[in-house]
Amino acid sequence: MALTTEHLMADSAGLDRAVAILKAGGRVAFPTETVYGLGADARNDRAVAGIFEAKNRPHFNPLIAHIHDWQAATRLATFSPEAARLAHAFWPGALTMVLPLAPGSGLSRLVTAGLTSVALRVPAAPIARDLLARFDGPIAAPSANPSGRISPTTAAHVLSGLDGRIEAVLAGDACAVGVESTILDLTGPARLLRPGGLSAEAIEAELGCTLAAPLPSTTDTADDRPIAPGQLLSHYAPSAPVRLNAGTCKPGELLLGFGPVPDATENLSPDGDLTEAAANLFAALHRLDRLNAVAIAVSPIPEIGLGRAINDRLRRAAAPR
Ligand code: TXA
Ligand code: MG
Repeated sequence: MALTTEHLMADSAGLDRAVAILKAGGRVAFPTETVYGLGADARNDRAVAGIFEAKNRPHFNPLIAHIHDWQAATRLATFSPEAARLAHAFWPGALTMVLPLAPGSGLSRLVTAGLTSVALRVPAAPIARDLLARFDGPIAAPSANPSGRISPTTAAHVLSGLDGRIEAVLAGDACAVGVESTILDLTGPARLLRPGGLSAEAIEAELGCTLAAPLPSTTDTADDRPIAPGQLLSHYAPSAPVRLNAGTCKPGELLLGFGPVPDATENLSPDGDLTEAAANLFAALHRLDRLNAVAIAVSPIPEIGLGRAINDRLRRAAAPR
């Protein structure tokens, strides 16, 4: 039966209410600097199952456990010297590290999908940090959108997909980074699993070496487990088909522009700034989706820095469904 989703302000009373809902096993969407997350107590199986239910998410796909700080992280995972170095350089921030799960972590097996590794992130956004401090435990949180749809960067985006399916949303400002965190597998030599809000170049500069290439994307077929779970090819999809690297618009298409292109319905960054483009990406896709376009054409975007994360999301939005 449909729930009434509580709209909470991120003041002290709202945060206390959010914590009470989380402690009772409920789901609270909250802003991080990347995208809004759909949070639940990462130690509570029923609460975590509720995330999958609200999103219609395939169960084999593991979740990121969000923690407040380094100390909390070391209770959940084992850090190599390389991983510790990255944590000190980039946390709090848009970096998620996949690490060997620590014995006695207390995490629900639904968070790790039964794997022997766990994905951890210390978010930087003040509301997320305040929530984690008050909750005083790990919060499992995928992006707060129905599985396969466009990720949310405002509370209104969250409600457009999940109103009546979750207990509450904590409202904050639009997410400053605008694309999900960069995911690195550190269970072996550092490997990029998902380009995201922290550039691969910055990570390589910190480590002084080149990252191993991402594993090929796989599709969500029958009993085939994805090689990199969650990297399902079709994702972030608006209703209209998406055409990439478009120089000009065909009849009926709307143009998602980048740089000084004429006639763009939305422009991610008229100045060609990739940071600005990442911050605008999902909101622009949400707005274009509401215009019921025949198709969405997208300007070429350079494959460097945050452009890699933007192109990754756009390729998935354009993938066959
Ligand atoms: O920015 C973000 O990362 C947002 C905010 C809310 O923090 N969260 C997010 O979560 O994007 P989600 O669930 O949409 O993406 C998590 C990804 C999935 O692709 C999942 O398969 C992968 O992390 N993942 C989680 N645990 C893993 C593991 N043990 N090994 C490999 N991949 C893992
Ligand atoms: Mg997601």
